Amino acid sequence: MEDSKFLRALNLQPNSIPPVWFMRQAGRYLPEYQKIRKNYSNFLDMCKQPKTCAELAMQPIERFDLDASILFSDILTIPDALNLGLAFYEGEGPKFSNPISSPDDIKKLIPFDINNLGYVFKAVEETKNLLPKDIPLIGFCGSPWTLAAYSIEGGSSKDFNKTKKFMREYPNELQNFLEILSNACFDYLKQQVLSGVDTLQIFDSWADLLSDNELEIFSLKYTRMLTELLKKDPVTADIPIILFEKSPNKKVEDLVFKEITCVSLYWQEDIDRISKNLIGLFAIQGNLDPKVLLRSDESIWQETKRICNVMKEYPGFIFNLGHGITPDIDPNKVQVMIDAIRQ
Ligand code: CP3
Repeated sequence: MEDSKFLRALNLQPNSIPPVWFMRQAGRYLPEYQKIRKNYSNFLDMCKQPKTCAELAMQPIERFDLDASILFSDILTIPDALNLGLAFYEGEGPKFSNPISSPDDIKKLIPFDINNLGYVFKAVEETKNLLPKDIPLIGFCGSPWTLAAYSIEGGSSKDFNKTKKFMREYPNELQNFLEILSNACFDYLKQQVLSGVDTLQIFDSWADLLSDNELEIFSLKYTRMLTELLKKDPVTADIPIILFEKSPNKKVEDLVFKEITCVSLYWQEDIDRISKNLIGLFAIQGNLDPKVLLRSDESIWQETKRICNVMKEYPGFIFNLGHGITPDIDPNKVQVMIDAIRQ
């Protein structure tokens, strides 16, 4: 893998052309994805087919010749393995039939067992078999906080009021749950590494629900716990870790910590300022606003070039979007972005 631009960037080495991959690169905006997706009524059933996951992970690599691939799965596999009863309904997103409604539900949780997630590790193996040798595979999990938020809320929601109420009423019990999830994430990521992933990314997609202080005590504390476990284990000690915090109520410079290799910037973050403060310390991934891909080719070209120019001298830059790509985006617009990066 010495030839990987992506791994070079994670090692803070310069690249004349930045590596590119993007969050949710395998998904509904691709007609070739839709073709396979229509064979499954429940998204989770599709995630449980390792060969299909491998094929889906390959689609954006084949179409765009990207520099990294990401495991095709979902962050909610862990709460599903804890028997919270996950299903994805058309147009509604994830729903748990058995959410965490009270502290008693946390006490009654079954122990986390990675053997319930064998389909994920099989998908890692199948994907590695299909991938070109010089394209790294990214494994991932949700942050303990983000997994707790979905588990308590019972699915997606605009305001996550149930979760916030639980946090105010039962902070200690919530922290017990976060500790359970931190250990589960560690077991899960370690097994992904044993199965073949080259890098890890942690998605804190609901960081924005928390105030500065709450972010520290309910999210970052447990993400650090997870990454400390990874750094202490010989199997995972040398695996680069990328952290994505969605719109955190804290300056990025104040939330990074030594166990992570790379910070993935949300589209609203000021990449110019942050890169000046983090140079030589962390790799940076980001951060084109995915909505730019709905604009004219000229405008996509301009915005992409702006980011590339800001980051030209930064050793350890990975081009990415500032959040996942959405189903309304035309894949040809993605090609315009990639051409702008590589031209
Ligand atoms: O290319 C890839 O990145 C594919 C792997 C991947 C998926 N989800 C597939 C998926 C990854 C890395 C994720 C992470 C994920 N899942 C996150 C973190 C990233 C972020 O956007 O902040 C979150 C919050 C989830 C939870 C989740 N999964 C939701 C809320 C939804 C429904 C909303 C939606 O976008 O449809 C999903 C479903 C999901 N996960 C789809 C895909 C391709 C769409 C399912 C479909 O085809 O119906």
